[in-house]
Amino acid sequence: MGISAEQRRRWRRYWDRQTHGYDRQMRLMDRVLFKDTRRWVCRRASGRVLEVAVGSGLNLEHYPVQVTFTGIDLSPAMLELARRRAAELGWGVNLRVGDAEALEFDDASFDTVVCTFSLCAIPDHRWAVAEMVRVLRPGGQLLLADHVASTHAVVRAGQRLAELVSIPLGGEHFRRRPIEMVTATGLRIEDHDRFGLGIVERLTARKPTS
Ligand SMILES: C[S@@+](CC[C@H](N)C(=O)[O-])C[C@H]1O[C@@H](n2cnc3c(N)ncnc32)[C@H](O)[C@@H]1O
Repeated sequence: MGISAEQRRRWRRYWDRQTHGYDRQMRLMDRVLFKDTRRWVCRRASGRVLEVAVGSGLNLEHYPVQVTFTGIDLSPAMLELARRRAAELGWGVNLRVGDAEALEFDDASFDTVVCTFSLCAIPDHRWAVAEMVRVLRPGGQLLLADHVASTHAVVRAGQRLAELVSIPLGGEHFRRRPIEMVTATGLRIEDHDRFGLGIVERLTARKPTS
């Protein structure tokens, strides 16, 4: 499954172009809408951590220093920003180009898998969640945060309209609910929070040990 090589190239070019002004825009979204979500997610990470679609590395400063960190992203330009950020923090991390829909890691190779504000943009988000669960060890934690379908009907109608433009132009979905896929794969939700008219959803889930 997953997207074609041509589609992948298209989205890579798209995200490479987004690097200009990306941090400023996301910092604004963090202040206005996402609030303390990056810290909420990252402080729970432990052991061998994989961040899927790490982008420019805005989460890096929030991880406990003890974790062993690997980050992948489709966009080399985004990864370059993340590398610079890691260097500024003096943090030795493993950052590499990769596709969330086809992770190049063995089964059960991470204690924690993190993905923030990216399942809205990854073309086949179901496949991406399945891949995250595959590389997570039994008993490991999946930590997700994203903007999702609002709990308010009027806002949802606005999100539906916005998608008419945002999906073809930027691959951006506003009405996905990753939590549904997480529970469908058999993970147990341990902590869950939804706010901002139900638009922001963050969760921690654990992979069963058997
Ligand atoms: C909105 S940004 C979020 C970045 C970061 N996670 C954050 O919280 O700021 C979405 C990221 O997803 C990446 N991306 C999109 N599709 C991807 C895929 N199939 N595999 C890996 N990364 C992907 C983009 O390159 C971009 O860096």
